[in-house]
Amino acid sequence: MTETPELKAVLFDLDGVLVDTSELHASAWAQMARSVGATPPADIKDQVRGISRMESLKIALGEDVSRFSEAELDEMAARKNARYLEMVQDLTSDDLLPGAGELFDDLDAAGVKIVLCSASKNAKTVLEGIGISDRFAAIADGHSYERGKPHADVFWAGARMVGAEPAECIVVEDAAAGITAALDGGFVALGMGHPELLAHSHHLINDLRDVDAASLRDIHAKHAAICNRRNGNDG
Ligand code: BG6
Ligand code: MG
Repeated sequence: MTETPELKAVLFDLDGVLVDTSELHASAWAQMARSVGATPPADIKDQVRGISRMESLKIALGEDVSRFSEAELDEMAARKNARYLEMVQDLTSDDLLPGAGELFDDLDAAGVKIVLCSASKNAKTVLEGIGISDRFAAIADGHSYERGKPHADVFWAGARMVGAEPAECIVVEDAAAGITAALDGGFVALGMGHPELLAHSHHLINDLRDVDAASLRDIHAKHAAICNRRNGNDG
C-alpha cells in the first residue's frame, strides 16, 4: 500500500504569486525590444511568466534574435534588467498580494515550512522591497539552478534546502512553465489565477485568500500519493 506523504513545505513562486511584477517584466522587455526595432509579441506578459532572463529575451525579440551577436544579446538583457531594477525600487509592503501575509502566519502556526522558489536573479531585492525576506525557511532563486522552468531544478533546490522530498511539498505557481516543472519534478502543483494557462495544475485557486494551512493539507493529501508513486516510492 502506498503511504500518503505529510505536507512539510510550501514552495512559493515570487513574480505573479506573492507580488504582481509580471507587468513590470513585460513592460521592461517590450521597451527593450522596441528600442532595437523588434516587435514584442502582444501576449509577452504571459509568454515570459516563469521563464529565465535569457530565454525571455529570445521571446521578446522573436525572429529578430538572429540579427544580434551573443555580446549584443547580453547587453540587451543587462539593459532590460537595469530598467526592471528601476521599476522595482517603487515596491512597498502594500504590493504583497492579498492573502499572502495571513497564509504565512497560518503555515508558521501549523509548522509547515515556507520556501521561495523563483526563476529570478532579482528575487532577494524584490523580497526586501515588499518586506518579507525574513518569512522564508529557504530561498532558491535565479542563482540556484542550471536549467530554468519548465525544468524542476529550482523546486528541487528549494525542497532540498529544507530537507523535504518533492511529494512532501506543494508548489504555488502562476506560470504554465512552473506548473509543468512542478508536475515533472514530482510535486503537488497548485495553479494561481490564469485558468486558461494552468489547466494542467492539480488544483487551481484565484488568489492566496482561497487557501489556508488546513486546505493546503487537504489538497496535498488528495494528490501526494500519486506524486510519491511517480517518484518511485511505492511504500
Ligand atoms: C520569473 C519571471 O520569476 O523570473 C520572469 O516570471 C523572469 O518573467 C524570470 O524573466 C527571470 O527574472 P530576472 O529578474 O532574473 O530577469
Ligand atoms: Mg511567476
